[in-house]
Amino acid sequence: MIELSVPLGDRTYPVLVGAGARHRLLEVLPVGVERVAVVTQASIPVDVDPGVEHQVFTMAEGEHGKDLGTVEDLCRDWAQWGLTRGDCVVAVGGGVVTDTAGFAAAVYHRGVPVVHVSTTLLGQVDAAIGGKTGVNLPEGKNLVGAFWQPAAVICDTDVLATLPPREYRNGQGEMAKYAFLGVDRLTDLPLDEAVAACVACKAEVVASDEREGGRRAILNYGHTLGHALETAGSYDLRHGEGVAIGLVYAAELARRLGRIGAGAWPSTARSSAATTCPCTCRRAPTRTS
Ligand code: GLY
Repeated sequence: MIELSVPLGDRTYPVLVGAGARHRLLEVLPVGVERVAVVTQASIPVDVDPGVEHQVFTMAEGEHGKDLGTVEDLCRDWAQWGLTRGDCVVAVGGGVVTDTAGFAAAVYHRGVPVVHVSTTLLGQVDAAIGGKTGVNLPEGKNLVGAFWQPAAVICDTDVLATLPPREYRNGQGEMAKYAFLGVDRLTDLPLDEAVAACVACKAEVVASDEREGGRRAILNYGHTLGHALETAGSYDLRHGEGVAIGLVYAAELARRLGRIGAGAWPSTARSSAATTCPCTCRRAPTRTS
């Protein structure tokens, strides 16, 4: 098991990465928690045992479940069950679940602790780490949200074996971003070490700029074009697929503008982004001038 932390002073929290990490949920729950509200989706084949009284609250599948209606439903269900500020929410799922349950936890009783048990590669290397929570409006994605740091994050690499190949590649698109941020030899590392290397990189960036006053924006590298393609609607792209295309585009643009040399296009990012990218730009950038 690889144990990391996101260093945020008295809100510092652990991130456990490795096979079977979900079985360590009880030890990362905040002290004194008596009840746990587990939030998940019916399609997620991952059970957790918080080791205290708990109830499972199932939210709708897909991106359309990530809305204010779901937040209201969760908060009302928790209130009827009697969840208090001394208890805890445990979000079990990918980014849709951790973003939505994390935001509901941020606003319920003006804030209850949340632990993320991330079940997707994309969630483990990005969405579950760093405290960005939020839901969509009809007007746009993630337009309502809060910074609400989790009490702990669990990245159980065993559960990644259950992911459909396309969902796994979706995570690789986001992972390729870290090669540009200085994480070396990602594709040579065993999976748990590769996930941990991305988590460590993100933790350092978040610790230096928690609320994205400036530096944290580097975590959005490759996302400008990626988001545009994702929201354009006609490409059927997942987030990591859009990011993969955006990385290829940003690197080639930077090279043509003379901001990076050919050697700055990391070989691991090149192979990872090129394999993830689902469109006809499958090739990593080639020299055209
Ligand atoms: N996903 C980018 C960030 O957490 O800042």
